[in-house]
Amino acid sequence: MHRTHNCGELRESHIGQTITLAGWMARSRDLGGMTFIDLRDRYGITQLAFNMDTDAGLCTQARKIGREFVLKVTGSVKERENKNKNIATGNIEIIVSKLEILNPAKLPPFTIEDETDGGEEIRMKYRYLDLRRNVMRQHMELRHRIAIETRNYLDKQDFLEVETPYLIKSTPEGARDFVVPSRMNAGEFYALPQSPQTFKQLLMVAGFDKYYQIVRCFRDEDLRADRQPEFTQLDCEMSFVEQEDILNTFEGLTKHLFQNIKGVTLNDFPRMPYSEAMRLYGSDKPDIRFGMQFVEMNGLVKDSGFKVFDDAELVVGICVKGGAAYTRKQLDEFTDFVKRPQLGATGLIYCRVNENGTLKSSVDKFFSEDNLKGWAEALGAAANDLMLVMAGQTDKVRKQLSALRLHVAALQGLTDPNVFAPLWVVDFPLLEWDEDSARFHAMHHPFTSSKPEDISLLSTDPGKVRANAYDLVINGVEIGGGSIRIHDRTQQARMFELLGFTDEEARNQFGFLMNAFEFGAPPHGGIAFGFDRFTAMFGGQNDIRDFIAFPKNNSGRDIMIDSPSIISDVQLQELSIRTAMPEA
Ligand code: AMO
Repeated sequence: MHRTHNCGELRESHIGQTITLAGWMARSRDLGGMTFIDLRDRYGITQLAFNMDTDAGLCTQARKIGREFVLKVTGSVKERENKNKNIATGNIEIIVSKLEILNPAKLPPFTIEDETDGGEEIRMKYRYLDLRRNVMRQHMELRHRIAIETRNYLDKQDFLEVETPYLIKSTPEGARDFVVPSRMNAGEFYALPQSPQTFKQLLMVAGFDKYYQIVRCFRDEDLRADRQPEFTQLDCEMSFVEQEDILNTFEGLTKHLFQNIKGVTLNDFPRMPYSEAMRLYGSDKPDIRFGMQFVEMNGLVKDSGFKVFDDAELVVGICVKGGAAYTRKQLDEFTDFVKRPQLGATGLIYCRVNENGTLKSSVDKFFSEDNLKGWAEALGAAANDLMLVMAGQTDKVRKQLSALRLHVAALQGLTDPNVFAPLWVVDFPLLEWDEDSARFHAMHHPFTSSKPEDISLLSTDPGKVRANAYDLVINGVEIGGGSIRIHDRTQQARMFELLGFTDEEARNQFGFLMNAFEFGAPPHGGIAFGFDRFTAMFGGQNDIRDFIAFPKNNSGRDIMIDSPSIISDVQLQELSIRTAMPEA
């Protein structure tokens, strides 16, 4: 037997018992005649004690053990003299009578501690060592618990977990596909699913009524802290439902998880139309943990002779409470922030409200104190506050001010990761115009239905049509998104046409779905949560990589197994991709 107990479970009640433990040598200390070793496994740490006076041989052997050696020890549980309140086993230690090295270990390339000295790359290369660290193990445990709770909750509501295939045909979700060559069908390729979208709709046609899956999705897109090329969705679909049914079901799930996993009680989630989110926050995923809402100022600032404002489509400002204290240097830093190429603003206007109520702006030449008082009134700025104002083309200026709002909020300490502010953003536009291809794209995906009251606009003003589409946003992060689908063949064909598909293209790519719609498709809709993002949110962080056991780096590489990698000419030939290169 390798062990009788694990390293996290021995307590004072075990004192006097002879036990056997196995684990890794986390740390050792030699104190005069005693040697102490912290033995670690997934469950905790237990202190082992070796006494030079009573067993010099064993103690000498213990002193030779290096970090991360795998050990098996037998000994008796004893009350500790110096108790350690920080760990669960801190009241006891093991007086070791038998020590066996199960496997020695090379010195790890970084310390396996909560605060490690290892940089990002080295931790990725030795991911299995990184995962030995408490924090990383806790992230995986958190992920596991969220998955279990989710399954329990959905199971109780009659959802059926169904697996859908990974080797499929392209589904248009807006990113590029990863493709897999087919050996048996020379010159042909599978695509890995960007999501199980069409399959879950087919399951509704099959009459499964309520489906879910915790499922891997693949998207070949540029990576960021909250994006991985393969990531996991909690994917769901329901039949005979309207938008409200979906929102209520998944608001219920979200509340349940926050309550059971974090002990946080969430109030009902506000619902905000997309247009309002854009107007008040300049973003379709507003962080509503704090105010700082946009105030549109066109009516206050036009025709002042200040060209930047006079020429702008939109002039819009925010009020930073207590922000008058920011120095000139800090304000210049804000200006540099919005002028970065990613945001591309031409400048930033500010106006301080001084302690005595006087106002000082960067455009005093054009605006009188009375003008500025008008601004302050509109933005709700009082003594010691700061107004930040931007001007330009509506979409751009909203994006720029939205980024600045988040930047300033972080500086002001308004983005506490332990405060959770969820909301539903609803009534998304159905289509968005793409300048490059000079055509409409589906904002969510081509299977999304329009609001019935907007259908007549489809032929006259398609850009104005609102969709039955919704996103769940928490703390400015898009956690999930979904829609009520089209379930009628004619409507689906019309949508493909609007999106610029020829009849033939639509039939080739989506004939299977349109055919299915002819065999009694029920009204249906669904949603998918980004499971990695959701878990990272519970963990109070933005970077999803720390919540995925084996993630890719920012160039989409797994540097531990070194992939992607070149394959042999033989393999390439088998796949009919390319014949062997001639010898140089
Ligand atoms: P959508 O494309 O909005 O919808 O994706 C749903 C959620 O998945 C997460 N997500 C990602 N997470 C990590 N890395 C990525 N690269 C990544 N891309 C997306 C986000 C997002 O909100 N089939 C539809 C859902 C539906 O209509 O039911 C879909 O996939 O949190």
